[in-house]
Amino acid sequence: MNLYERIPNNVHLSEDKKLQRALEKWLPNYLDWWQEMGPDGFQQKDVYLRTAISVEPDGWANFDFVKMPDYRWGIFLKPAEPGAKIGFGDNYGQSAYQEVPGEFRNSLRRIIVTQGDTEPASVEQQRQLGKTCPSLYDLRNLFQVNVEEGRHLWAMVYLLQRYFGRDGRDEADALLERRSGNPDKPRILEAFNQPCDDWLNFFCFTMFTDRDGKYQLSALAESGFEPLARTCQFMLTEEAHHMFVGDTGLNRVVKRTAQLMKAGDVRELGGIPLDIIQKHINFWFSYSLDLFGGEISSNSADFFAAGLKGRYKEQEQYKDHIGAEQNFTMKVVDEGQLKDREVPLRNALNEVLRGEYVKDCEKGLARWNKTLADEGISERLFLPSTRFHRHLGEYAGHHFDIEGNLISAEEFEQRKAEWLPTIEDREYVRSLMHPVTEPGKIANWIALPATGIKGKPFEFEYVRL
Ligand SMILES: [Fe+2]
Ligand SMILES: [Fe+2]
Repeated sequence: MNLYERIPNNVHLSEDKKLQRALEKWLPNYLDWWQEMGPDGFQQKDVYLRTAISVEPDGWANFDFVKMPDYRWGIFLKPAEPGAKIGFGDNYGQSAYQEVPGEFRNSLRRIIVTQGDTEPASVEQQRQLGKTCPSLYDLRNLFQVNVEEGRHLWAMVYLLQRYFGRDGRDEADALLERRSGNPDKPRILEAFNQPCDDWLNFFCFTMFTDRDGKYQLSALAESGFEPLARTCQFMLTEEAHHMFVGDTGLNRVVKRTAQLMKAGDVRELGGIPLDIIQKHINFWFSYSLDLFGGEISSNSADFFAAGLKGRYKEQEQYKDHIGAEQNFTMKVVDEGQLKDREVPLRNALNEVLRGEYVKDCEKGLARWNKTLADEGISERLFLPSTRFHRHLGEYAGHHFDIEGNLISAEEFEQRKAEWLPTIEDREYVRSLMHPVTEPGKIANWIALPATGIKGKPFEFEYVRL
């Protein structure tokens, strides 16, 4: 059987011998990696999954029962628009790059590798979660996210193998060699080395960390390097579902907690107390903020100037696509105090993108707080200050309270158990994680979803165990 018929694609794979040879070597290693690091214990089960088979509106939403190793991981780019132009920066209005511009080869490869590394990393982080699923509906959603992260790895590997020659092929191999949380060969970004071993962490991860992915992909979807832009545009359609899983998952946890708060002591009733949910929000939000990079960055300026990485909705949202004259004011720590500093806008683009992300996260918080209000609970959840608990950028190496006030290292140590999940909190959450796999049943610590998948009821047997 022709290998390439198994790989749905719109990149003329059958005509590209060089790419075929590269993929031929990489594919068996990918499948080995999936067996070794993909969902543990469920590889032979039938799962009701969505598979993308083309980029047409109806082509990326085919639902059927599939065993995960048989999932048809494909290579899809949004179709090219004739006469595409570079949409921002110093080369604004010139023809889009169809090949990698030589002077940016290394940094562009770095961007693609860094994005690509997050995709298998999250599958590794979530490898054991299936064993404690709160319902078959949730189990299916976990696996949907996992196979699509696998496909995102394919998307980045396609770019590396097609556009970066030998170096790209080496990088594609290395993407299968690093392991999340392994001290000898860790994944590149810290949020992707954090354990994600219970479902509260999973929902926070898909809410906050996948959402970073949305903003990075959106910025790259504006790229003047057209193959990258078109790849990211298609990936965003899948990413939306991942954030839906996180956002609605947390909303359901909050709803159940609110119900139990009215009935008595949440812990005694086997739910997740609101303060533990808040601490998990603080943890994942702060780690996810780091993923945007330093507040002041010459890389961001170079990439914007070159037309390679734009702003969120660059075309829709902005009139001035050059941005060379503008400034941006941000708070920095200067001689032990927070002070305003004005920097050239192009150097502040990581912070600009982070600001868009924060606005989007706030919408999630508003939805969860509405759930609390609807249940008649007066407590509210919130996002911590963007300065809190940062490990990268202007605020790393300083200590801030949850509101963003500078505090001493000692005070942070004393108070961090108020703000971040403690070992006891984590153990308590883990103690609630028992698998519920009977169709129509759900764990006690989470509410039912509002609807099922693709018009199916919640009781549908989404995974055949
Ligand atoms: Fe992804
Ligand atoms: Fe994702």
